[in-house]
Amino acid sequence: MGFWQEAFEAVKENDPAARYNLEILLTSPGIKALAAHKISHFLWCHHFKLLGRMHSQFWRFLTQIEIHPGAVIENGVFIDHGSGLVIGETAIVESGAKLYHGVTLGGTGKDTGKRHPSIRRGALISAHAQLLGPIEIGENARVGASAVVTKDVPEAVTVVGVPAKIVRVHGPASPERDRVKLESERHVSFYDHMGGI
Ligand SMILES: CC(C)(COP(=O)(O)OP(=O)(O)OC[C@H]1O[C@@H](n2cnc3c(N)ncnc32)[C@H](O)[C@@H]1OP(=O)(O)O)[C@@H](O)C(=O)NCCC(=O)NCCS
Repeated sequence: MGFWQEAFEAVKENDPAARYNLEILLTSPGIKALAAHKISHFLWCHHFKLLGRMHSQFWRFLTQIEIHPGAVIENGVFIDHGSGLVIGETAIVESGAKLYHGVTLGGTGKDTGKRHPSIRRGALISAHAQLLGPIEIGENARVGASAVVTKDVPEAVTVVGVPAKIVRVHGPASPERDRVKLESERHVSFYDHMGGI
């Protein structure tokens, strides 16, 4: 499937208010920002870095969504509302990820090179969550609204709070998930226990 088809499907799947493609195209800032990013990213990757940045800033002005042209964003990502969303230069966002308004995929200021988060397939990043540093958010993980995440999040868990902690493990049982569940039931932070993975 191409960009547009996956983009429309993602909106219809995730936004109960969405009705038909033309309406989505005319009213969704997320889909416009993602389409514009395709062009800025192309410019960035073909040595027109300043033009890429200017293009992305122009679309930031129109959509209130700031995506650095260097960011790698797969087709089929869903951005709802979007105002205040910031995606940094070395962020990766995989297909099926869902991002709401006020989310930051940012740097801590301490890292060089890859310094922004990677969001794996199907992960949900709720409104105003702040994800900082070159961390991994695992497949189908959920990050609660206003959480602050500075450590890796395993797949298929829910994290909430400041700093974010695992509060729920989803899906079928597996030894890894059982271990995580046990830890969270004992009110021990997974991250503290693993010595800051
Ligand atoms: C994280 C979220 C997706 C729920 O995920 P979930 O896996 O279904 O988690 P649950 O609802 O079972 O919540 C698990 C626990 O975390 C708590 N919790 C959920 N979200 C929380 C948040 N953002 N901050 C603090 N605690 C939260 C719940 O109260 C619950 O606590 P309990 O076990 O003591 O009852 C949801 O709560 C959330 O934050 N949604 C926001 C989505 C969004 O951005 N919408 C904007 C649309 S405009």
